[in-house]
Amino acid sequence: MGYAEDYARWQADPEGWWLEAARGIDWDRFPETALDASKAPLYEWFPDGMVNTCWNAVDRHVEAGRGGQVAIIHDSPVTGTVHKITYAELRNRVARLAGALRAQGVEKGDRVVIYMPMVPEALEAMLACARLGAIHSVVFGGFASHELAVRIDDAKPKCIIAASCGIEPGRVVHYKPLLDGALEEAAHKPDFCVIFQREQEVARLEPGRDLDWHAFQYGAEPADCVPVEGTHPAYILYTSGTTGQPKGVVRPTGGHLVALNWTMKNIYGVEPGEVFWAASDVGWVVGHSYIAYAPLIHGNTTVVFEGKPVGTPDAGTFWRVISEHRVAAFFTAPTAFRAIKREDPKGDYVGKYDLSSLRTLFLAGERADPDTIEWAKAQLGVPVIDHWWQTETGWTITGVPVGLGGVEPRMGSSGVPMPGYDVQILDETGDPVGADTLGAVAVKLPLPPGTLPTLWNAEARFRKSYLEHFPGYYETGDAGMIDEDGYLYIMARTDDVINVAGHRLSTGGMEEVLAEHPDVAECAVIGVADELKGQLPMGFLCLTKGVNRGHDEIVRECVALVRERIGPVAAFRHAVVVDRLPKTRSGKILRATMVKIANGEEVKVPATIDDPAILDEIRAACRSLGYAAA
Ligand code: COA
Ligand code: AMP
Repeated sequence: MGYAEDYARWQADPEGWWLEAARGIDWDRFPETALDASKAPLYEWFPDGMVNTCWNAVDRHVEAGRGGQVAIIHDSPVTGTVHKITYAELRNRVARLAGALRAQGVEKGDRVVIYMPMVPEALEAMLACARLGAIHSVVFGGFASHELAVRIDDAKPKCIIAASCGIEPGRVVHYKPLLDGALEEAAHKPDFCVIFQREQEVARLEPGRDLDWHAFQYGAEPADCVPVEGTHPAYILYTSGTTGQPKGVVRPTGGHLVALNWTMKNIYGVEPGEVFWAASDVGWVVGHSYIAYAPLIHGNTTVVFEGKPVGTPDAGTFWRVISEHRVAAFFTAPTAFRAIKREDPKGDYVGKYDLSSLRTLFLAGERADPDTIEWAKAQLGVPVIDHWWQTETGWTITGVPVGLGGVEPRMGSSGVPMPGYDVQILDETGDPVGADTLGAVAVKLPLPPGTLPTLWNAEARFRKSYLEHFPGYYETGDAGMIDEDGYLYIMARTDDVINVAGHRLSTGGMEEVLAEHPDVAECAVIGVADELKGQLPMGFLCLTKGVNRGHDEIVRECVALVRERIGPVAAFRHAVVVDRLPKTRSGKILRATMVKIANGEEVKVPATIDDPAILDEIRAACRSLGYAAA
């Protein structure tokens, strides 16, 4: 059946369609009800089903006689190692880890924060939580102590599982001191921490609090899978909103399993047993869905890659991994290809490897620019598929479902809506607009299985952020348009979220940090266009009256402060001191106008501006940083 038929079948009977998809999962009790709409506009899927994620991702493949198949390939150019784990080994390791956690008191519903680099132990920790029905929250390693502390205080974990260190090109990232700093700052204290000691750095353990990963598992009784309700939270993943307080996206167990399992064959076009590689990080949603869960649920082999597209050791790393492990489908962010293209524009490295196993390249996480798509297509000789989704949804909203067939990719578009999603473009009043007209991208409620039912501890914020602006719809925060054939084009965010190298960051969060600097009276952070990373943050600082220290010194301190508080991943390097910020007469900072100035685009002076002369000062400030070329 092709895409059009399947989408029409879903439209005709959404609940029946999802119950059929649910048959791809092993349930302890198959759900009789697909959708619970009794609390609309809050919806939940599979409320009366009972199921376990770890069983579906691990044990069932062993029971089916595939225990000898490789489940995880850890390919780590930064440590020079490649290590494979079969499904049978994975089951034993995860069951023992879960047993050790249970022996320390971790139970269904308890939260566990995981702070680890790209090692298989990170996936094992996630799966061990799932085995017990504990709710994990993985925090990306590029975030600093403060960000970790904020997440600890919100999730209130019983336990934290961390590694001693991560490895970035040219430096060791000291995870353990970052964790210690976070625990000092956080009001909530976990009962205990488990530390996976890597040979690159053995961390000091705090007696009475920190347990060694191996020692604590020694002699532990393996734990069986605990069935949980379909609506039970599988995990919380924090993502950037408009403020420094991140949003805890809740992932429901049943819908997560059903939706992810469906996507592997129908969107990504892979069969169980094939190798699937998502070059992202377990700290992001792409890592949750397509490094950890979906490939394992579907019985694929997943690649855990600990390296970068360039420099580990060269721009041919991706091609080596694809050829060495016979990768069938590859998923990454466009920025990774821009980095490779910059180092190897003619694709000299591509020719050195046998890439015949690769059938499709999938891109997501940020806008895929036509240049990058054309280059990737020409180099790899396979279809390049852009698809669009978010942490909140956990899987594709629009894409080109290569498994279903019947849709051709279209340049500049991130594809057509997947079954489950009724995507609409709305004007400011919430009315749908016609084809090729720009507006807010929204999804008619209910959202499909696997998407967020709420935010952790923050139902009011969930309603306010996503449901209230356009009643009856989920507001995505993206702006775009749909053409006459139903293809979606994502153009920009409608809020203050920016996208730096495929990483979602909050300019509001950076402004909160800058405002902490004693010399900064007021500030604004915007996202400016960057050839490699898509966007980069740029800060404008107004100083407190009477401050007469050198501006360079203050800027340096502000750059260091953002790195220290948010982390290196913010990539905050550009800031400049200005006298005033451009504002409307009602005092709203005109950030969109500042972005246009910095990008050298034509600027229409807003009618509501308080003092147009400030725009020239902003232009001069941008030029001093090498921006605002036009
Ligand atoms: N732990 C600790 N630090 C990390 C980190 C991690 N897991 N990941 C990134 N960082 C650090 C980097 O070392 C860098 O630090 P620096 O300022 O000291 O150089 C900083 O955070 C910024 O990292 P990044 O934005 O990744 O930039 P980069 O210059 O190191 O690499 C790319 C640029 C394009 C190669 C890289 O961003 C990349 O591979 N992107 C792929 C896209 C991707 O993974 N997207 C995720 C969502 S799909
Ligand atoms: P995240 O939650 O980190 O996955 O970021 C989601 C946001 O990234 C989306 O709301 C978009 O703004 C952007 N994004 C993700 N995929 C795409 C894509 N294919 N094209 C354009 N923007 C994208």
